Amino acid sequence: MQIVMIGTGYVGLVSGACFADFGHHVTCVDKDESKIDALLNGRIPIFEPGLDALVESNVAAGRLNFTLDLASVLPEADAVFIAVGTPSRRGDGHADLSYVYAAAEEMAPLLREGAVVVDKSTVPVGTGDEVETIIRKVCPELKFSVASNPEFLREGAAIDDFKRPDRVVIGVNDAHAEEVLQEIYRPLTRNDSPILTMSRRAAELTKYAANAFLATKISFINEIADLCEEVGADVRDVARGIGTDSRIGSRFLQPGPGYGGSCFPKDTLALLKTGQNYGSPLKIVEAVVAVNDQRKSAMGAKVIEALGGDVAGKTVALLGLTFKANTDDMRDSPAIEIAQALQDAGITVRAYDPEGMETSKAVISNLVYCDDSYDAMTGADAAVIVTEWDAFRALDLGKAKELLNRPLLVDLRNLYSRTDVEKQGFEYVAVGR
Ligand code: UDX
Repeated sequence: MQIVMIGTGYVGLVSGACFADFGHHVTCVDKDESKIDALLNGRIPIFEPGLDALVESNVAAGRLNFTLDLASVLPEADAVFIAVGTPSRRGDGHADLSYVYAAAEEMAPLLREGAVVVDKSTVPVGTGDEVETIIRKVCPELKFSVASNPEFLREGAAIDDFKRPDRVVIGVNDAHAEEVLQEIYRPLTRNDSPILTMSRRAAELTKYAANAFLATKISFINEIADLCEEVGADVRDVARGIGTDSRIGSRFLQPGPGYGGSCFPKDTLALLKTGQNYGSPLKIVEAVVAVNDQRKSAMGAKVIEALGGDVAGKTVALLGLTFKANTDDMRDSPAIEIAQALQDAGITVRAYDPEGMETSKAVISNLVYCDDSYDAMTGADAAVIVTEWDAFRALDLGKAKELLNRPLLVDLRNLYSRTDVEKQGFEYVAVGR
């Protein structure tokens, strides 16, 4: 198959490289000259484990290319994937579809007969209809299809998620689009990954519903964690106790500082808007969003309380800034609000993150950036684990105790055993325990 991927962001690049690895011929197109230039020179503009090697081997094999010039590659394409950004529109939380529609307009005069246009970007229900209308206006006689194929990739595990998915969702309104997409994903049937075919609208909604449901699990367990602290139970026991019920499932039941990232916050808001637009409000999702917003600010207060309340002039070591481990992504990271709350209370924040220090500069100011965890803890009145990086799982607590001004560990990811930490002479504050 000849595939064109429009957009070399996170989704476009990972999907393009994986499709090439399946054996298809893929050209990734972007308008950003510096991105294409970097990719042509073997530099990957995002941090994703394994992606550099995957890109390198597929470029070397001649299956993966990059270009700025859509017109030079589109006429050959059997399938054209739209993988451009759909950020939250400022002010109202709707998904901003301007990049999707611009891509549709630009590709319309270049599409070949029988081409399948596939929305991979996360887009609200009905966007496929609009893309079809845009293209139809430009080429009233052309035979083409528009399909939806949402992605369920987690940052940091995206390649594995792509190659060994729980399922692939294909939303099609005609048999030709279904055939082409089945062929594109055929290599996955070897791993018994189910390929679920449904209508385009159902596929569009599936993506939002999946993210909203996962976000619901997180907000739910975070509230249960708060209750556990009040009643003297350990939330990890409760999570295990409910998660082993296969109707509930054990994943996404880890309490923490609230969900962040490029998907959950944006997609839950967009789903709420869709509900409002169609007069079908989603009260559960509304509560999930509110609980998560509150959660992030509560975490700053939790640290301040652990320090004893009188905190002006104190110093805190923040271990981790990114919204989760194995990414440099700072979008909607709880660390942003935690750092802000601490700074507002007059605390100096020393920070270390294995990958996120550069990206954090755009969203948090006045951090003292440190070389590693121990440098961050030097002279601090508490160490606060915000992100579950492996580097923070086995800290040398003896050394940390010597460096810290006060041996206080606030573990917002429950990485440590209370007994181990307290044995080393630390005060220990965790989540839901
Ligand atoms: C998510 C979805 O998992 C993926 O399917 C979709 O395509 C994009 O959005 P991602 O944002 O990369 O992926 O991260 P994910 O691993 O899902 O974590 C999202 C947030 O939830 C993080 O802030 C994480 O720390 C938090 N989380 C996750 C919890 O607090 N507890 C959990 O048990 C799981």
